Amino acid sequence: MTENFESSFAAGVGARHAVAVTSGTAALYLACHALLRPGDEVIVPDFTFVATAAMVAAVGAKPVFADVNPRTYTLDPAEAERRITPRTRALIPVHLYGQPADISGLVRLARRHKLRIIWDAAQAHGAQFNRRDVGSFPDAVCYSFYPTKNMTTGEGGMITTSNGSLASQFRLLRSHGEASRYRHVRLGFNFRTTDVASAIGLVQLARLGKAIRARQRNAGILREGLRGIPGLQTPESIRGTSHAFSLFTICIDRRQAGMPRDALAKALRLRGIQSAIHYPLPLHRQPVFRGYGLDRDFPVSARLAKTVLSLPVHPGVEEDDLHYIVRSVREILKADVN
Ligand SMILES: Cc1ncc(COP(=O)(O)O)c(C=O)c1O
Repeated sequence: MTENFESSFAAGVGARHAVAVTSGTAALYLACHALLRPGDEVIVPDFTFVATAAMVAAVGAKPVFADVNPRTYTLDPAEAERRITPRTRALIPVHLYGQPADISGLVRLARRHKLRIIWDAAQAHGAQFNRRDVGSFPDAVCYSFYPTKNMTTGEGGMITTSNGSLASQFRLLRSHGEASRYRHVRLGFNFRTTDVASAIGLVQLARLGKAIRARQRNAGILREGLRGIPGLQTPESIRGTSHAFSLFTICIDRRQAGMPRDALAKALRLRGIQSAIHYPLPLHRQPVFRGYGLDRDFPVSARLAKTVLSLPVHPGVEEDDLHYIVRSVREILKADVN
């Protein structure tokens, strides 16, 4: 089942190899373990889930935070370039919420400075950049199959790569460095997935295209319905990219909208609408990273942490629900109901 899941996933994204593991975190850990050495510096966006930077630190390398682009909320190549030092070894851009990062700009930057790239696509199954699946870009792409993601196996993860030697390393590291039966050539781990999870993954993979289209349709209805509300910013359409809408995240400017983000979330909850904050703290403010990134400001990431709010967009949300969400946001913010 797992071999079948891996080959189907690799074919789906257009990569030569896919290696299934126990979580997105395990995928990031293996990619960091294979590509980094202790003391290396790695540039990660300041605005992402903690795992992106935590796995860098877990292998003894140093996460260096860079601010994100105000339109895509993903690692900004110019900001990343400012953070490069002679010790910089890699970039870990995140396709946050399912919005592809500026892949061309980041690949150019990596080539110029001879850096490796580990893409965090935990939220971006099915996202495309210039008509190419985000899972097909070098060096390695890490996915999560946590239940809230675009596809799930309960818990699980995958690394895709077209580099055969990297794929072999990931396979070795995933299972105690076992080159042949009980012959161990490298220190490794047990990050193997189960056939049960892979069987679920195969079914989920077959449904992925439909699920992404449903997410995109739902996002379209929300975006259209919420257009023109003062102080409310919906996700932008970025030319040449296909957003997979793992999350549909708006920004609320408290001054223009007339209320802070948290008050909107509370009012929505009273109407039975769940929303969530991805993420309330930028990485440089996380207690676990105390002391990192204090040498500079991260204005975009700091603003996003105070203003973002994710609304329901998953395929199970029905059209009536979406109109109810739009109507509720408009009523709460006292914007004209259209
Ligand atoms: C951006 C990002 N990176 C990494 C992860 C880690 O994945 P997992 O929860 O499967 O370990 C997640 C998911 O929670 C994520 O959203």
